[in-house]
Amino acid sequence: MENTATLTPKAMEPQQVLHMVGGDGETSYANNSQFQRTVISKAKSIRDETIQDLIYQSSSSSDLPECLRIADLGCSSGPNSLVVISDTIDAIHEACNRLHQTLPEFQVFLNDLPGNDFTSIFKSLPSFYETLLQKEKGKEEYYGRCFITVMPGSFYGRLFPTQSLHFVHSSFSIHWLSQVPPGVKSESGNVLNKGNIYIGKTSPSSVINAYSQQFQKDFSSFLKFRSEELVPGGRMVIITLGHRSDQEPWDDGNCKCWELLSMALTDMALEGLVEQSKVDSFDLPFYAPSALEIKDLILAEGSFKLNQIETFEIDEDDEIEKGDDDDDDSDGREFDIFEIAQNVSRTTRAATEPMLMSHFGEEAIINDLFQRYAKKVVEHLVKEKLIETCLIVSMTRMG
Ligand SMILES: C[S@@+](CC[C@H](N)C(=O)[O-])C[C@H]1O[C@@H](n2cnc3c(N)ncnc32)[C@H](O)[C@@H]1O
Repeated sequence: MENTATLTPKAMEPQQVLHMVGGDGETSYANNSQFQRTVISKAKSIRDETIQDLIYQSSSSSDLPECLRIADLGCSSGPNSLVVISDTIDAIHEACNRLHQTLPEFQVFLNDLPGNDFTSIFKSLPSFYETLLQKEKGKEEYYGRCFITVMPGSFYGRLFPTQSLHFVHSSFSIHWLSQVPPGVKSESGNVLNKGNIYIGKTSPSSVINAYSQQFQKDFSSFLKFRSEELVPGGRMVIITLGHRSDQEPWDDGNCKCWELLSMALTDMALEGLVEQSKVDSFDLPFYAPSALEIKDLILAEGSFKLNQIETFEIDEDDEIEKGDDDDDDSDGREFDIFEIAQNVSRTTRAATEPMLMSHFGEEAIINDLFQRYAKKVVEHLVKEKLIETCLIVSMTRMG
């Protein structure tokens, strides 16, 4: 078997190592994706509106298909994807009822990279169908007509036949790039982003541009391929981590999280627990765009009408339910800070562990790294809040 410590750069292609922690264990994405679920629920009204619009328009032009094809791109494993599918079906159901339309059948495609834990999705399908049936007792024939399947592959390429989809959803996925931008290294292979695993305050402008350009290239491909796969009038809703248009990319909560992880890795290098050169050469295939960048790219690609783009900020505190806080403020805050830091650490670990293990090649460093990371998050939260920017985008395939 290949020794992961000697992996070649080729074997580090994001497609092979970019996946969340599978299964339903303590460190799995399934158990550590509450932050994403909170944002998905905040985006529900935009999603519902987009879907209802699709049904009203198809119905008024007598174009409502007998089978509506829906795709969730970058579904991962765990409950989030199926929550979106269930909400989508509910919204279609409601719109059809209002219009006295016969309900269509549904074909649902759950997409992710081939390394994703699709087996967990298969295992959760019987209980998902059961929940749908419970919700609509007596209307079994309706939910019986929902067919879910998986579609492994990269959404930076073609996944579906021409004009075969009616609604595409993607949450927390398009900020993952197809590759680490080549410009993070000089032409002679020197590391240009030392001390950072993503854009940081000390990143040279060439590195910031390299990240932004890689995103432009990837998101333009994403739009192009979806424009081929969606029917004219088809809709797409995207949720992504982002940065505010009036903010420098490094001046955001997303960057701050990565900066704290860089700091924890650097501390481990100083203590000789990991090689400094390995820390220097680790860069994330990630970019959090601004709403302006997204708008410009949609306009430049030219196949989609932008219906709505909303930027909102979410405090990491939103994720946890606070108990009664009869203590004084500082005590309550201290307890919250510790819990928030643990949550942030677990969420980050669920998303990066396979990548980190592939690069550093040592399972042993992971527990230590994320304990140190949680401490860094606590130190940060004592001084200021950790606020993440998210973008929700709704668009229509013109035709
Ligand atoms: C953070 S998870 C999001 C899961 C779920 N959509 C949610 O909102 O909780 C991001 C997922 O995107 C997938 N992903 C990243 N790049 C991808 C690509 N090029 N094609 C397909 N899936 C990709 C990852 O494998 C991962 O499972």
